[in-house]
Amino acid sequence: MKKIHATANPNIAFIKYWGKKPSSSDETLNLALNPSVSLTLSQAKSDVFVSLAKGTEHEIFVQGNLANSKDAAKIFAHLQRVSKAFDKPLPPLRIESSNNFPSATGIASSASAFAALSYGISAFFLQKTTFSKSERTLLSQLSRRGSGSACRSVAGPFMKWDGDSAEAIESSWKLFDTIVIISKKEKLVSSSQGHSQVLSSPLWPKRQERVLGRYEKCLGAIAQASLTKLGPIIEEEATEMHEVAESSVPPIHYRMPETFQFLKALQSLKNRDFFFTIDAGPNVHLISERPIKSEIEKLLADEGLEAEIWQDWTGFGPVVKEFS
Ligand code: PMV
Repeated sequence: MKKIHATANPNIAFIKYWGKKPSSSDETLNLALNPSVSLTLSQAKSDVFVSLAKGTEHEIFVQGNLANSKDAAKIFAHLQRVSKAFDKPLPPLRIESSNNFPSATGIASSASAFAALSYGISAFFLQKTTFSKSERTLLSQLSRRGSGSACRSVAGPFMKWDGDSAEAIESSWKLFDTIVIISKKEKLVSSSQGHSQVLSSPLWPKRQERVLGRYEKCLGAIAQASLTKLGPIIEEEATEMHEVAESSVPPIHYRMPETFQFLKALQSLKNRDFFFTIDAGPNVHLISERPIKSEIEKLLADEGLEAEIWQDWTGFGPVVKEFS
């Protein structure tokens, strides 16, 4: 196998991973304080190419450019992790990673990037492109170490994460995610920082009490494929996650004035049959059972808001191909 091409998609959390268990021994354990549920997407994707480096050093490229030292260190640590997990020596590798959508703006780019990287390197080490169930569980655990939510990008269509890995929820329910990109600027505060300061929010104890019930209700709504049940749960959840972030010390503001203006406009719509959620960024994901792009464009125009729209829908997880 000379060159591996792995792709993985971001996932949008319906119940958010917000807060990780403190660990004095390893910052990358990424064990969540609460279980979470997500929808795997299909159109936004990360591509990772893995091949042998020409020289004696790893060659790491992100979005076509030599990786900066922070990204290179994270990717290098991940290569070592996967090589250790499979007990394989790590030769100098050339890794080329890219996304076809804006990074670090609340569209879970690190989730798809680490899931694709885990699949790509594992395929390289194991010399195969498909994996057994137990290997997929290991891939979820490994991806989690790169970025917590990446453990939910290893399959689809829905994923639940409760413990050290995520597992797929089978379903034939197709959902659309119409992403309103209010800003493409990289967020100033990483989700890692948000996770580590969650306990400083006075709202955290209340969230702790409510989130488990919401998780169970979310699983129930998915089992019944009921958007009228799912919708209010995901809106309440996203709002709570952001209120916790905004009230933590120091506060983290991912929602921008334009986000609030858009949400207000949404909430004034009568008989709305689509529902919002927001990750760690200003951009709004609208979950629906039918395409809604044109009516959202009209709503944005009526509000005088400029935003691009990314149209996505249900996906089923990573794919690995090999090149000779
Ligand atoms: O995986 P991280 O560390 O980027 O955290 C993801 C946090 C949220 O996207 C806000 C929620 C989630 O569950 O994906």
